[in-house]
Amino acid sequence: MLDFLGNLERTHRCGTLRAADAGKQVVLMGWVNRRRDHGNLIFLDLRDRSGICQIVLDKELTPGGHARGEQVRSEYVVAAIGKVRLRAPEAINLKMETGEIEIEATELRILNDARLTPFSPAEEAIKDEEVRLKYRYVDLRRAEMQRNFRLRHEITLAIRANLSQQGFLEIETPILTKSTPEGARDFLVPSRVHAGEFYALPQSPQIFKQILMISGFDRYFQIARCFRDEDLRADRQLEFTQIDLEMSFPRRESVFAVVEQFLAAGFAAAGVTLPTPFPRITYDDSMRQFGSDKPDLRLPGLTDVRPAFTDENLATLQIDPALPVVALRIPNVGELSRKEREDNHPLFDQKKGAKFIDDFKRLAKSFPEAAAKVRELTGASDADFVIVVAGDPAHHIKASDTKFPGRLSEREINVYAAAGNFRTELAKKYADRHGAFRMTEETVEAAHVHGAADPIDGSKAFYPIWIVDFPMFEYELASGKWVPAHHPFTAPYEADMANLVSDPASVRADCYDLAMNGLELGSGSIRIHRKDVQQQIFASLGISDEEARKRFGFFLDALEYGTPPHGGIALGLDRIIMLLAGAANLREVIAFPKTAKAIDLMADAPTTVTEQQLRELHVRVALKS
Ligand code: AMO
Repeated sequence: MLDFLGNLERTHRCGTLRAADAGKQVVLMGWVNRRRDHGNLIFLDLRDRSGICQIVLDKELTPGGHARGEQVRSEYVVAAIGKVRLRAPEAINLKMETGEIEIEATELRILNDARLTPFSPAEEAIKDEEVRLKYRYVDLRRAEMQRNFRLRHEITLAIRANLSQQGFLEIETPILTKSTPEGARDFLVPSRVHAGEFYALPQSPQIFKQILMISGFDRYFQIARCFRDEDLRADRQLEFTQIDLEMSFPRRESVFAVVEQFLAAGFAAAGVTLPTPFPRITYDDSMRQFGSDKPDLRLPGLTDVRPAFTDENLATLQIDPALPVVALRIPNVGELSRKEREDNHPLFDQKKGAKFIDDFKRLAKSFPEAAAKVRELTGASDADFVIVVAGDPAHHIKASDTKFPGRLSEREINVYAAAGNFRTELAKKYADRHGAFRMTEETVEAAHVHGAADPIDGSKAFYPIWIVDFPMFEYELASGKWVPAHHPFTAPYEADMANLVSDPASVRADCYDLAMNGLELGSGSIRIHRKDVQQQIFASLGISDEEARKRFGFFLDALEYGTPPHGGIALGLDRIIMLLAGAANLREVIAFPKTAKAIDLMADAPTTVTEQQLRELHVRVALKS
C-alpha cells in the first residue's frame, strides 16, 4: 500500500543534519539505503543526494510508522516525519556525517515501492559493468557516481565562469551540419527534405569557431558536444564534450595563458592547486625523453644509453647503430622470472622496427661493461626493471629517412615511440609495485627539469605540460603520403613556409597539445587566416581545388571577407573530469555512455527503425545481420 504525499513538504536534506539541529521537527524524503529490523525498533538509512540519515521507527512511539517500516525494502521512496535527536554516546557513528544524530520518527509514508534492484546502490564496488550500464539509474545513485557528477558540475561551472571573466562569449554552433575535418569518421543524418543528402554531426566546432572570429566575436567558447565514429577506448567515447575556444589576434602564448587560467580555476574547484605557467617541451624532445607526445612526468623518462655500447657490441647484438639506443626504467619492480618477462612481450609494439633487451643477467654475462654502464646511466637500483630498446636492422619498414638538422627522422621517432609505449604499458602493469604512479622525489625532480612549479601533493599529482613544435605533416606508411598531423587549418611556422612542397618533413606547425599524466587533454593551433596560404596547404596535402571547394567552400569564401589572425584550442572536458575523479574510464564521468561496442545498454541504441521511417528518409538498408 502506497501513501499519498498530500501537502507534505520536505524541510531538510538527509545529509545536512548535525548535532546542532537536535530538537528540530523535520520532514525528510529519499530512498531506503538499508533497513535493519530489531523487532520493536526498525532503523532505516534514508538517502538523498546530500547523504544519509538514520530514521528510528519505535513501535511504541509510532505504531503506524513502525508498521510501514516493516513493509519497506531497499530503494523504496519514503517520507519520514519526526524530530532530530542526539544519538546515545555508544551509538554515535563517526564514519557518517550525520552520525551524531538520528530522526525519532512519528510517521512514515511510503511514496513508492521498488523492485529488487540487480545490485544495491549501497555497495561500493560492482564488478559487472554491463549490469551497471543497463540499470544506469540505479548505478548513478551510488555515492561514487553522485560524487563524480557533482565534481563535473563544479568544474564545468568554474571553467565557464573563468572564461566569461576572461572575456569569452559562449556561442552555440550547429549539431546538424557539414563534415568537419578532424579526421575521424562522421556520423551522418539523412535529410528527409532533400532526398539522398546528409547532414554530418560535428566532430568539433572547428570551422564554425573560425567563422565566429571572421564575424568579429573576438573571443568565443563553448562547452561543445562532439561526435566521432571511431573505435572506443578508455579515454574515447563516440560523443564527448570539449571546452572549445577561439581567439582573434592571439599569439601562442596568449592561448596558453587563457587555458592555464581556466584550467587552474577548474582544478581549484576540485580542491587541486595547479601551479602556472605549465612547462613546455618540444615534440622532438618529448619523443626523445618520453617516447610519447603526451608524456607522463610521474615516471622516469627514457635514458640515452648509446654510449654504453661499443660499435662491436651493437653489431653482435644486431642493433642498428644509426638509430637511438634508449633504456626505460620502471622503479621497484623487483626481480622477474623469465616467464614473467616473457609475459610482458606482447606489450611491445613490434611493428615500429624496434627490438628490446630485457634480460640483464644475460647482457651482464656477455657484455658486462655495457650492462654496468646502462645501470649507471639510468641510475637504476637493483629492484628497478630496466629494458634497452633499439632499432632493429632486420626490420625494414618503409619509413621516411628524411632528417633535418635538429629534427628527428620518422625511423628515430618509431624507436622512441616503441620504447615510450612499452614504458607506459609496463608502468600500468606494475603500478602496484612502483607505487601506482605516485610521485617520488626523483620524479618530482624530473618534472622540475621541465619547469613544473611546485609544490605538488604526491597523492594528487597532476602534471600538465605543453607540447610545441609539432611537425606539420606525418608520413603515412600505408599510403606513402604526407598527411597533416593536425587539421588542415593549422598554420605552418612562417619561417618554414618555403619548404612546404620541397621538404614537407621539415615544416613545423604552429600547433600545440596539452598533456597531463600521460593523457592528451587538449589540442589547438594558430590558424591559417589567408586564403593563399590555405590553398597552398591544401595543395601540399594533395587536396584538389575542386575537393577543397566541395568540402570547405563556404569557409574558403569566408576567408576572403576580412579574416583576422586567429587561433584556439579544445580540451576534452570528460578527460579532465576523469583525471580529477581518479577514474580509469570516461564512462565513470559520462551519465549515459556507450559501451566499448558502441551500444547504449540502457536505452538499447542503436536499433532498427520502421520501413516507413526509412522510406521518408529515402534510405534503404542493404545489409541485414
Ligand atoms: P582534437 O581532435 O585534438 O582537436 O580534440 C581535442 C580534444 O578533445 C578530446 N577528444 C576526445 N575525448 C573523448 N573522446 C573522444 N573520442 C575524443 N576525441 C578528442 C581530447 C582532445 O585533446 N578542433 C580541434 C581543436 C582546435 O584545433 O582548436 C580538435 O577537435 O582531449
